[in-house]
Amino acid sequence: MPNSSALRDALQQSPNNLSLLLLYGRACLEELHLDEAREVFARALDIDPDQTDAHLGIAKVLFMEGNTSGAAVRAERVLFLEPDNASAHLLLSRVHLSEGDRAKAVEHFDRAAQIDGTMSDPALERELGRTARDARKTAPAPTPEPASPEPAPPPGNEGDEFFDDFDDPPYDWRPETFYAPGDPERNAVTFADVGGMEELKEEIRLKITYPLQFPDLYKAYGRKTGGGILIYGPPGCGKTLILRAVAGEVPCNYLAVGLHEIFDPYFGSTERNLHQIFETARANAPCVLVFDDLDSLAQDRRQIRESQMRNLVNQFLHEMDGIRADNQRILVIGATNQPWALDPAFRRPGRFDQAIFVPPPDAPARAQIIELLAKDKPIADFDAAALIEATNGFSGADLKWVFDRAAELALSAAIHTGQPVPITLELLLAVTATHKPTTAEWFEGVRTHAQQAAPDAFFNEVRKFLAAPSPNTKKDR
Ligand SMILES: Nc1ncnc2c1ncn2[C@@H]1O[C@H](COP(=O)(O)OP(=O)(O)OP(=O)(O)O)[C@@H](O)[C@H]1O
Ligand SMILES: [Mg+2]
Repeated sequence: MPNSSALRDALQQSPNNLSLLLLYGRACLEELHLDEAREVFARALDIDPDQTDAHLGIAKVLFMEGNTSGAAVRAERVLFLEPDNASAHLLLSRVHLSEGDRAKAVEHFDRAAQIDGTMSDPALERELGRTARDARKTAPAPTPEPASPEPAPPPGNEGDEFFDDFDDPPYDWRPETFYAPGDPERNAVTFADVGGMEELKEEIRLKITYPLQFPDLYKAYGRKTGGGILIYGPPGCGKTLILRAVAGEVPCNYLAVGLHEIFDPYFGSTERNLHQIFETARANAPCVLVFDDLDSLAQDRRQIRESQMRNLVNQFLHEMDGIRADNQRILVIGATNQPWALDPAFRRPGRFDQAIFVPPPDAPARAQIIELLAKDKPIADFDAAALIEATNGFSGADLKWVFDRAAELALSAAIHTGQPVPITLELLLAVTATHKPTTAEWFEGVRTHAQQAAPDAFFNEVRKFLAAPSPNTKKDR
């Protein structure tokens, strides 16, 4: 192959010569000039958006950069355009191998060998423990993972795995929950309704409330507004509650996104919706943008075989990138009870760089929650200490269940006796004794994940919590 500098000279004479562009791109790839290669292949795609060699070139660049997920999306697109493209199958084989899916790697390798009788790839063959000749002896398999019948994404984004420039006019779509300051609906719940979580409350104030109250101070200290906070922990411990309370608490716009609002069966539309949500937040900055049950969206891309889902996660990562100057006054808060299911890329600096563990409430937090739950109920005057003690390890939702159940029993007694029957400490303790905290199962699960995960700040807090001698951990349950 001619070397890249000779080809570059030739290209200067005829910059739009597609074959020359492809040759030059391949030369750049061989010489590991990845940025240049990507740009050249993108130029080729400007001329012909369905040029499979150019798509494949970009896929290889992405793969070499370690972006296996991006490479897979690109290679799948090649197979959609050209199902018998042996090179795309070969690349997908490498992608799957590097992601630890040997069976899929072999499937694609065999397919490549069957399509191209001359194909050989000694390095891959060694790693798979299988030669191209072995593969050809196997009965030709149907194309594995047939590329989905999706139309190509909108043009103009060929070099990237995400979209930035949607052609549509400024959009007129709003998620279900958008509150401007002063909206009477939004103050229904505030931090005062959430027991415990002092660290998290303060962190939210530091990132969005105080900067708006004391802008000069923030400027003087060179601190920025916004960022990304991920809250995680066992179910029923108030993650959703605090997300709702943020609306009543922060003096700026508030936007909560239910993931069902984003998903769209049409290719590219889900990414577009997500982009539009971030655009709305930017247009309405300062703004808090909230994603509850994030795990359903931000799944670990390695678990996602479907290219559409990978695209969505890539889009999310792109929108959250801290280097984007336009994200400066946006605070993104995500919540999940399955932190292990999230793509690790979400936790890199500039995205959800801060992860806050929300454990089951400790004794002071339970005292607060009990007080909140007792408010406005026919409750006999009681000293809560015994109940606080008896509900060690209970989540806020467990405590709520205890109060609801006790209220039901007292109500039933009142109906049958015709007398008002108050909720007593004895009744609450009796109900508590019948209930096993729902957080126990979560801790069992997370213990396994924490043991398997590499040293990672993310699980350290959970590990600390599990190892703590405090009876609150309920380790021996
Ligand atoms: N810290 C708390 N203070 C007051 N009430 C709480 C608290 N934690 C939980 N609750 C009660 O439990 C209910 C359920 O909590 P919530 O839905 O916020 O849990 P979650 O952490 O979002 O759970 P999941 O992980 O299952 O989504 C709340 O609506 C509230 O009534
Ligand atoms: Mg929740």
